[in-house]
Amino acid sequence: MHRYKKYSVTVDIRKAKTGDVDFVSHLMTEALEPFYDGDHRAHARRIFTTHINGNVDSVGQFSLGQYTFIAEVNHHPAGMIHLVVKKQGTVKISPLIVAPEYRGKFGIGSKLLRYAEDFARKHHARQLYCTVAAQNQATLKFLFRKGFHLAGKAQDHYKPGIDECMLYKPLNQSAAPDLSDISIVPFDEKKHAVAARQLILSRVGSDFNGVDDTWVDALFASYQRRESRDINAKYKLIFIAEQDRKVVGVVVATPKKGQPIKIMPLVAKSEAVFEVLVANLPQLLAGYSRKLYVHLIPEPWQIACLQRHGWTIEGLFPEGYALDVTVQQWGLRIKKRDIKKVRNSVRSKP
Ligand SMILES: CC(C)(COP(=O)(O)OP(=O)(O)OC[C@H]1O[C@@H](n2cnc3c(N)ncnc32)[C@H](O)[C@@H]1OP(=O)(O)O)[C@@H](O)C(=O)NCCC(=O)NCCS
Repeated sequence: MHRYKKYSVTVDIRKAKTGDVDFVSHLMTEALEPFYDGDHRAHARRIFTTHINGNVDSVGQFSLGQYTFIAEVNHHPAGMIHLVVKKQGTVKISPLIVAPEYRGKFGIGSKLLRYAEDFARKHHARQLYCTVAAQNQATLKFLFRKGFHLAGKAQDHYKPGIDECMLYKPLNQSAAPDLSDISIVPFDEKKHAVAARQLILSRVGSDFNGVDDTWVDALFASYQRRESRDINAKYKLIFIAEQDRKVVGVVVATPKKGQPIKIMPLVAKSEAVFEVLVANLPQLLAGYSRKLYVHLIPEPWQIACLQRHGWTIEGLFPEGYALDVTVQQWGLRIKKRDIKKVRNSVRSKP
């Protein structure tokens, strides 16, 4: 029989003191070296000095204050976080590091992150953000689990061969709206045509040349060819979001050669309806495709919604559809679990 001695562990977070400089410098050098070029010791000295000198950054133009915190396990330094309060109402994490021997054991990274969120809220920040090397998979996954979203990826950014992911976590998310009264149903021309046409024309008409009544007629006609499942028949799938029996959203999907699906338009009367559509598209279309892409001119809240659901930007089309307008292409790879869900459920076939 093995006997395990139980240790009581206390984890504390405190402001960094002058004597922590070597600990911070060592942690940063070891953790950052594989992913970033540059002098990490000098970087550590700079941010540490800023913290010690009253948190005032004498060289940063957007920085309101810089703060270093140390996590201690039973009074031994075990991790650090450096936070930069920005004038824009955001807080940057740069960096968050737990000493290798303490990782995955005491929840130190989670505690430092929670501390950073409370700190950022106290400073009235809208969001926390940071960057992490794409090749730093464990840290990246950790941050995704903690509610960070991917804003984008810069190739060969701080070091050749290493890509940098830009992440953010909104802090002021209001309570999730009640989405239970919104349902997505297959398009029924008799029931939905008038309202769907009106919604499409009012939302996309002016930004996409050629979107007019004739275009909508052609859209509805191609929906009638859906049974053919022939890509070259350019058939379309149409789904309607309904709330109180009214049309509040429309999605038109065109399966393409090689199995991606183009979504255009994707229109919704409210943020909640847009969210419901974006969240359900993978499962609705998994039976037809392995990848989705959409062309739209998004508002910031639409971008946040797409990123929340794992979509990434794939292209920008300046004046691709109309003068003075840049259309964006966003894409999503459909996950195997969505395909399985469709196989296991009765599919609502349009
Ligand atoms: C990412 C990093 C900060 C995570 O720190 P950590 O202390 O290992 O993380 P945690 O222990 O809080 O969480 C990791 C997992 O450990 C597990 N864990 C083990 N023991 C635990 C405990 N006692 N309490 C809580 N979680 C525990 C949990 O499963 C947790 O999973 P979760 O994220 O789903 O909650 C750390 O791995 C690190 O320093 N990596 C390098 C950092 C780096 O490269 N920084 C540069 C870019 S900013």
